[in-house]
Amino acid sequence: MQNVPLPVVRLRRLRRTAAIRELVQETRLVAADLIAPLFVKEGEGAPEPIGSMPGVFRLNLTDLVAECRELHALGVRGIALFPVTPAALKNHNGTEALNPDCLVLRAVRAVKATVPGLVIFTDIALDPYTTHGHDGILTPDGGDVDNDATLHVLAQMSVLHAGAGADFVAPSDMMDGRVAAIRAALDAAEQCHTGILAYSAKFASAYYGPFREAVGSASAAGTKSLDKRTYQLNPANRREAIADALLDEAEGADALMVKPAGPYLDIIRELRDSTSLPLAAYQVSGEYAQLHAAAEKGWLDLVKTRDESLLAIKRAGADLILTYFAKDVAKAL
Ligand code: PBG
Repeated sequence: MQNVPLPVVRLRRLRRTAAIRELVQETRLVAADLIAPLFVKEGEGAPEPIGSMPGVFRLNLTDLVAECRELHALGVRGIALFPVTPAALKNHNGTEALNPDCLVLRAVRAVKATVPGLVIFTDIALDPYTTHGHDGILTPDGGDVDNDATLHVLAQMSVLHAGAGADFVAPSDMMDGRVAAIRAALDAAEQCHTGILAYSAKFASAYYGPFREAVGSASAAGTKSLDKRTYQLNPANRREAIADALLDEAEGADALMVKPAGPYLDIIRELRDSTSLPLAAYQVSGEYAQLHAAAEKGWLDLVKTRDESLLAIKRAGADLILTYFAKDVAKAL
């Protein structure tokens, strides 16, 4: 038999000009996809740079509000607030978390009052408040985080955040049963409109290093590598991550999250295909830091890798993206 060459399939027709490429582009980033994580600090001081996160600052309340106005004007719809608790207010049980006038609550009230159109997500976990840097109350022997003792505090914290005006509370602690406990507490407090964005598939990741520097949870604990493996997911486990996330849905979460984002695109895709809830992904501090570090050395193009990294997260299936690049990207769009 004679070998007849197959006709060449011309896929490059769709890539021929910029206009054609734009017409057939499947995924686009828009400012409304983005949630900006912001660090807020006590006092009146100037914005404090965070060494490993170029362009990210700890802001006082006044500067925080100004930043929120700017983000809103740029089309960013959401912020995620993280308080930097002064060391003197941290203790073993993280009791500052339940102070009705603590920093994050004052921040929520200030932002709500001045930029009401911005959707506020607050982090529910004890790590900004504990001297050991863990996300919950420790067991009596100090060897682990006590799940059920922690649930009670997370639920009370959520009610305080909702009362201050948080639109969504975002439990990032990875305790079992927290979504149900928080939902029940919110409903009992007549906060049925406050949503829960569950950090559902949160992995025990080394990519959180710069964040721990930013909020001081690492220095409080005296180590950069806090070991949270008894509650955060094993990076090796895909099935367990999906099961954990679907449990959060069953317990009443309004939206789910995968974190980190870039190294876990397979989890984002699988979860997108397994739930009809909105799905968020958190491009964490280490993902941000590595692009900046390489760009500073002249090894990567910051803007192009930034945009590609975010597009990839969206293409994988994320509807919302928490990213420290939010403002820069919104400006560029
Ligand atoms: C803590 C929390 C962490 C992040 C968000 N909430 C760190 C941790 O689990 O130790 C990390 C975010 C980032 O790295 O950007 N509950």
